[in-house]
Amino acid sequence: MQKVIFDTDPGVDDALALYYLHRHPDVELIGITTVFGNAPVALTARNALFLKEAWGIDAPVAAGAAGPVGAGGTEHWPVHIHGHDGLGNIGVPEPAGAPDPRPAHQLIIDLVRAHPGEVSLVAVARMTNLARALYEAPEIAGMVRQVILMGGAFAVPGNITPAAEANIFGDATAADAVFAAPWPVLAVGLDVTRQVEMTRAEIEELGAIGPDLALLRDLSLDYVGFYEALRHRGMVVHDCCACVALTDPALFRTRPARVRVLTEGIGIGMTVPAPEEMVFPPTDWDEVPVQAYAEGIDAGAVLQTIRRVITA
Ligand code: BDR
Ligand code: CA
Repeated sequence: MQKVIFDTDPGVDDALALYYLHRHPDVELIGITTVFGNAPVALTARNALFLKEAWGIDAPVAAGAAGPVGAGGTEHWPVHIHGHDGLGNIGVPEPAGAPDPRPAHQLIIDLVRAHPGEVSLVAVARMTNLARALYEAPEIAGMVRQVILMGGAFAVPGNITPAAEANIFGDATAADAVFAAPWPVLAVGLDVTRQVEMTRAEIEELGAIGPDLALLRDLSLDYVGFYEALRHRGMVVHDCCACVALTDPALFRTRPARVRVLTEGIGIGMTVPAPEEMVFPPTDWDEVPVQAYAEGIDAGAVLQTIRRVITA
């Protein structure tokens, strides 16, 4: 059983990822922390609580950062992708319960300290909560089992600028801190996630199975339309790819690298790897540990795995 804290900004693909973790037999979801990104943090926390109650998830939900620790934009929420409510314009009802009183970064610190060496952080949004946890309690880096993040564009263009992927762009300083910390990081970025598309027909089929998946279908339909308009076969399930990298790492080909994030200029948010096998003169990359990023994926097997887990 893997203990997991899920740091998220639900968010349509976040919702699928949350349901995947909840249903996976080898995952024990011990905390859900939310951050600004796909919507303001008040909405992402509300959405996480709503999904927790709708799907009967036990883990506490804590609201986190409302804006970045460094440069990054919060003014333009991606309502054309995730809807005005952050969950595909379904009209999210107010949850019955309240969030955990602690800020997200404090919940992360407390849970990691309570389970030293056991917790995996799966982070699929701005890395702000993780960076705050590191600033507040740097020693937790040595107590975390691994960090798997959805973010970055290593050998492909970004999705919010030609240089940057949205989760990294939204708080580049935080992302640079996460790659620089002495915990093992695997970045699952656009290089691989763009290949994993769930079609409208598949989502409709899943939605007919029962109420949990009907909710997932309903909140996904506008998001599918967004990707269809971009000539994708279906919706790109970015965040769930990071979850599958946790449960089924053999479906990914990874590459070791020291990674820095550009924190200013037109390339802000760009993830720049210094591959391990290359030799350079002294650079700023020498200061950070070797991490890893995904450069290949068995997209068909990842989709099958998602389907198997969420329909079991
Ligand atoms: C990432 O940005 C968000 O819109 C998605 O939820 C995903 O985490 C993809 O770039
Ligand atoms: Ca996300």
